[in-house]
Amino acid sequence: MTDQTALSFASMSAPADGVAVVFAEEGPKLTQAAQDLDKKTKGQLTKAAQITGFNGKKGSSVDLLAPQGVKFSRIVLVGTGKPSSFTQEDWLNLGGTVRGLLSGRESAAAHLYLDTAKGDLAADDIASFALGAQLRGYTFKKYKSKTPKKNGNADETDDKTLKKIVVHCADPRAASHAFAPNRAIVDGVTLARDLVNEPANVLGPAEFAGRAKALTKAGVKIEVLGDAALKKLGMGALLAVGQGSERPSHVVVMQWKGAGAKGGAPIAFVGKGVTFDTGGISLKPAAGMEDMKGDMAGAACVVGLMQALAERKAKVNAVGIVGLVENMPSGKAQRPGDVVTAMSGSTIEVLNTDAEGRMVLADCLWYAQEKFKPKAVVNLATLTGAVMVALGKEHAGIFSNNDELADRLIAAGKETGEKLWRLPLGPKYDKMIDSKVADVKNTGGKWGGSISAAQFLQRFIKEGTPWAHLDIAGTAMSSVDSDINRSWGSGFGVRLLDQLVKDHYERR
Ligand code: BES
Ligand code: MN
Ligand code: ZN
Repeated sequence: MTDQTALSFASMSAPADGVAVVFAEEGPKLTQAAQDLDKKTKGQLTKAAQITGFNGKKGSSVDLLAPQGVKFSRIVLVGTGKPSSFTQEDWLNLGGTVRGLLSGRESAAAHLYLDTAKGDLAADDIASFALGAQLRGYTFKKYKSKTPKKNGNADETDDKTLKKIVVHCADPRAASHAFAPNRAIVDGVTLARDLVNEPANVLGPAEFAGRAKALTKAGVKIEVLGDAALKKLGMGALLAVGQGSERPSHVVVMQWKGAGAKGGAPIAFVGKGVTFDTGGISLKPAAGMEDMKGDMAGAACVVGLMQALAERKAKVNAVGIVGLVENMPSGKAQRPGDVVTAMSGSTIEVLNTDAEGRMVLADCLWYAQEKFKPKAVVNLATLTGAVMVALGKEHAGIFSNNDELADRLIAAGKETGEKLWRLPLGPKYDKMIDSKVADVKNTGGKWGGSISAAQFLQRFIKEGTPWAHLDIAGTAMSSVDSDINRSWGSGFGVRLLDQLVKDHYERR
């Protein structure tokens, strides 16, 4: 849900009450703002620091209650370690950490004083800090009863009292200006997380398409293709996956023309949107199957990204395409051994109905290339469990037919902290998916499962189209707690691809 906490910028001396947050570097070396508060409280802050052995190390903090001589109800002194060597990701994470410290503080306002021992911070650093703070404020509380039950599981996000965060800095106008695009990113990531967290009884293909339609308000052109249109296009692979479900399949096409006619061909983003993956007739085991409500995280990222690009009016021509299906076993479901024809004309032997994501993407990728002749295609999918075996939950896997595109994505990953690790493609791997009866089969055997899945996708990429596939099964859902996210869905990919666009695909 969108964070209800408003964030604004003000000067160092602007009026303030509630909770104050100030910083100290390793030593501890208090920043100017921290020293000021220490003076006003007649040394209470340094005293509290001494008592607790606070040394300014990153992640450490001191909480001073009911300080004398100031309006604040409490002062939190936060250690930053060595901020002189901070990257944008470090500032982002610090903002998240501080937002986490504010929860449950029973105060309506928090005032954060951003400076260093040496002096002022760059506007970009402040903007990253504020982005981290807003992202950490996200909660998915839609299905929690309003009045918490006794012994209910309270958590850090039960801070109904915090209404506003004010970031105090030397140049609030510059900081506010630098933060403007980040508000769009917060909204995009929030939307992606909301979609991933939503259970599948509420969010099926039609409902997902409905949520994507709301992007019209931001200026995105939306087209929803239903059953008849998909049949007409010949999307036999995508439709085969959805045929076992009572809920009809959809494809949503989103266009943002921020660079106008002169901007040329668009960059295309394609997302796997399996709103629930039971495995189909090749049914998954019961344990952990609930996680498959998040099997649309690739599509969620694409929608969140399009929202962010439109809201910050990015000077880019971009299309987003998501394939929305529910993979269910039923009397109408596809069977192992079935042969279906994809939109490209290639025939697919379905060896395992649980290898469904690649079939959905095959038709979406082909459609993207046929319809838009894009200058590059990036797809995202929670495609294989195997990518988690290889990379854990730290990196998403990237596969690409184009070194420049791969390098750009990996660099954007380093800038944003949404990290990618490249895995190989090649003719020997491609052989693994040759079929005896059809052009291709949808599984490649026991080993290198993420690679054979990527090889399958590449069969639907035209010669000369720069393409990258991001396998986000480990990074988009069932997230490990981080400084900037505590919810199940992470919104992985929105910040990454926004950065890619900003660095390489926007008209200046
Ligand atoms: N959606 C799953 C992959 C997945 C697994 C994502 C766990 C997130 C967490 C995908 O559709 C799938 O079932 N893949 C199979 C492929 C196999 C049948 C070739 C897998 O990874 O086991
Ligand atoms: Mn599956
Ligand atoms: Zn799946």
